[in-house]
Amino acid sequence: MKYLLFSLCILLGFQSIAQDEPFLSDMGIIPAPVSVKRAKGEFKLTPETFILSDATTERGVKFFMEFLTKAGYGHRLTDIHNIDKSPASLKNSITLSINYKEEGKPDGYEILITEDRVILNGKGAGLFYGVQTLMQLLKPGKPGFATLPCGTIKDYPRFGYRGMHLDVSRHFFDVAFIKKYIDVLAAYKLNYFHWHLTDDQGWRIEIKKYPNLTAVGSKRAQTKVGRMDGKDADLYDNTPYGGFYTQEEVKDIVAYAQDRYVNIIPEIEMPGHCLAALAAYPDLGCEPDKGYKVGEGWGVSTDVYCPTDHTFEVLQDILREVVDLFPCKYVHIGGDECPKDAWKKSQFCQNLIREQRMRDENELQSYFIARIEKYLNLHNRVIIGWDEILEGGVAPNATIMSWRGEAGGVAAAQLNHDVIMTPGEFGLYFDHAQSKSQQEPLNIGGYAPTAKTYNCDPIPSKLSSEQAKHVIGVQANLWTEYIATPEKAEYMLLPRMLALAEVAWSPTAAKNYRDFSENRLPHNLHLLEQKGYNFRVPEPIGMDDSMKRGGNFRIELKTPVEGARIHYTIDGYTPSENDLYYKDALRIRIPEDKAIDFQTITITPGGKRSVVKHEILDNSGK
Ligand code: ACM
Repeated sequence: MKYLLFSLCILLGFQSIAQDEPFLSDMGIIPAPVSVKRAKGEFKLTPETFILSDATTERGVKFFMEFLTKAGYGHRLTDIHNIDKSPASLKNSITLSINYKEEGKPDGYEILITEDRVILNGKGAGLFYGVQTLMQLLKPGKPGFATLPCGTIKDYPRFGYRGMHLDVSRHFFDVAFIKKYIDVLAAYKLNYFHWHLTDDQGWRIEIKKYPNLTAVGSKRAQTKVGRMDGKDADLYDNTPYGGFYTQEEVKDIVAYAQDRYVNIIPEIEMPGHCLAALAAYPDLGCEPDKGYKVGEGWGVSTDVYCPTDHTFEVLQDILREVVDLFPCKYVHIGGDECPKDAWKKSQFCQNLIREQRMRDENELQSYFIARIEKYLNLHNRVIIGWDEILEGGVAPNATIMSWRGEAGGVAAAQLNHDVIMTPGEFGLYFDHAQSKSQQEPLNIGGYAPTAKTYNCDPIPSKLSSEQAKHVIGVQANLWTEYIATPEKAEYMLLPRMLALAEVAWSPTAAKNYRDFSENRLPHNLHLLEQKGYNFRVPEPIGMDDSMKRGGNFRIELKTPVEGARIHYTIDGYTPSENDLYYKDALRIRIPEDKAIDFQTITITPGGKRSVVKHEILDNSGK
């Protein structure tokens, strides 16, 4: 063993650290509201509390009532118009009202909580978001009872577009999981779900006119195991894989999302990332006799749609059905990573380039996207494309999703196109590793810890304030090559998605990573565990993976999840629940010439575990 074992006499109890609930001046809400004023005292929800509203059919009101019912409170809703409004009769009530002036700040709300009553004012989505805030604040007591801390909240979002993506092609996720995913987006005030429905490895949406898209295109013979390179390069699981959503299921999910003010953007990838469609209908490719098959490994396929009139007819038919299913104003048409090999080899494509007086295959890609855009504009839809669609000249009305750094976003905004920022280098690729620990599960690589996501600013500094108005929002992406199960999807999503929510919603002045990670996140991770979500458990707060030199150390840690325990070892063994339980700050004295490996783990009440974090305390003088 590298570090010497020696006795426990070096440990002395120190002062106790309050691990129970602090008085949070910002009330612990994620995403941080525009303004919060905490006051003394609390409102007590009892079985006698009245729930009142002047808009009893509002989605936000219905959502709150359903929440109370599910949580076992059993309150009924009363129309405020039907009661006497004297202060005495409003005592012990919660009022959800649409009496709210947006004043140029759409989707806002305000909440007043006193010991006597609670008032939430907001309209439509704003009222719904206020309800989400109330639900975060509600602290359950004995059955039927709860409390809300007194205070005043005024709130509205920084960006109109607050997006989260999910790739269901590389791995398929069922309807129940998609709804659970939408639930957590809505709880943290995200309002766009970008549903990546088609790719090389699977076509996942039923299209009535082209049944082979799902009969053939939703299935692959086997799936890559492990990495594409290195020792696992030739490893496949030899197991058929498939899945798709029927149109009835899509309608159900769209309605479910609408009830939660989440818009669903369908992505139908073109002209690349379409191998599954080519396997179903080979005449859509430039080499129909090639024997296309649905992708089994990862990476970018060189087989792409051939831009014939027939291909456009089929794609337009598909998009017609898609538009009928999704009311969202946006349709995402992909546009990323379209290798030009097949077009360079194709006589048809070369003739088309000549006839249309195009310079090259990049312009052919722009021709492709512009033709599709024209069709979708006729159906009152705006296209979104990944930033490659800028390369041969951008389609006239397209919104750009900037993923390869911020350059695409900057160029598009300068051309007066709307932009959604989603670069990996901003910490917005949630398939990237969350820490450098070897204990992180298999992932695509990269490094995107929660702090990196949290600290990104979606507005590139190169833009003038006028150009910056084209940055309509921000999104994070969850690509699923290495994510085969709901548990792992949640692990990769959370807690980073809560950092994204704060980037997308909160004004910069309200952001503070320390407060987020040390005060507000622990409470919200506790709520997520109670709701049945998996998440990456953060390391104990205060551990920093460093080598510290000296003989006397004071170690003070905080739990990163409310109710979770920190365990530690000093003897070189990996800590578990059987090891020392951290309660109070520690004073550790290291004898001269010795060093210890101080190792910690967080274990939540539900049994979730953090990675093991090390600090070397070294008094060897070397
Ligand atoms: C992408 O990550 N290929 C948009």
